[in-house]
Amino acid sequence: RKDILGIRDLTAEEILCILETAREMKEKIENKKAREKSLKNFSIVTLFYENSTRTKMSFALAGEYLGADVSDLGVATSSVNKGESLVDTGITLDQMGIDIMVIRHSMSGAANVLARNVKASVINAGDGVNEHPTQALLDLYTIYEKKKSFKDLKVAIIGDIIHSRVARSNVFGFTKLGANVVVGGPSTLISKNMEYLGAKVTMDIKEALKDADIVMGLRIQMERQKGGLFPDLREYRDLFGINEEMMKYAKPDALLMHPGPVNRGIELSTEIIDGSQSVINEQVKNGVAVRMALLHLLAEGRKNNEDIDSKWTH
Ligand code: CP
Repeated sequence: RKDILGIRDLTAEEILCILETAREMKEKIENKKAREKSLKNFSIVTLFYENSTRTKMSFALAGEYLGADVSDLGVATSSVNKGESLVDTGITLDQMGIDIMVIRHSMSGAANVLARNVKASVINAGDGVNEHPTQALLDLYTIYEKKKSFKDLKVAIIGDIIHSRVARSNVFGFTKLGANVVVGGPSTLISKNMEYLGAKVTMDIKEALKDADIVMGLRIQMERQKGGLFPDLREYRDLFGINEEMMKYAKPDALLMHPGPVNRGIELSTEIIDGSQSVINEQVKNGVAVRMALLHLLAEGRKNNEDIDSKWTH
């Protein structure tokens, strides 16, 4: 593969290969001396048209741990602010010899547009409400470590589903690997479209949580609320917020997850964020290993594909 644009495009075998590679990468992180430099002489650029802490920093660290040269475009101070288009920005970076571009953009499909126009490999770090494949992969990896298999797990994803690229990528990933997904939230923040992707949809949070193996809270994305969807946050917390009482509907060994950043006290109570079932900090930690795995696999593919130069004319 030249690019990683979405979980929708990946097979179950490819996902499991990424998770196994992430496991090897995590061992390398923990044993600093064993770090390999498989990305020596590779250049990576991060282009974040939207804000990020976890994704951007973990890609930077992942690239550095593998010996790559990593730069950030700094979109806010770049020629994007003079009106340069995404495609022209990509072609400009391509000419500088960038091997891998990591992009986050508010437009669904932006990563695909970039990938079609550049020789570099493109990784989608979140595009509009479409996909956030690297978040889903680190979520899957965190569960893989704890539960060993995805078969017949019940995954409850609760919150602002309609604006969530994380929910979409996770529904693709979980269903490909044999888990059952239920999405829940207020009617203005969930979409029946999720049924077409393979999830069950409910507005009854207790039904969603009942006997769940995995409980995933999602952030109410204030920045994307428009057209009357914006919920009253106190009412949201009272009706759909997950707290210790609500967690009792899930299995006793259920994992509590959240992609972050969390609106503490809204979608999740502080006690459960910091409680014994929470793997939220482990998700962040695993993000570095998963992104190392993706960079490593893409770089290996590029080393083995001598045609890649001849396919591009600009
Ligand atoms: N989960 C996630 O994408 O976090 P950031 O926005 O901080 O990258």
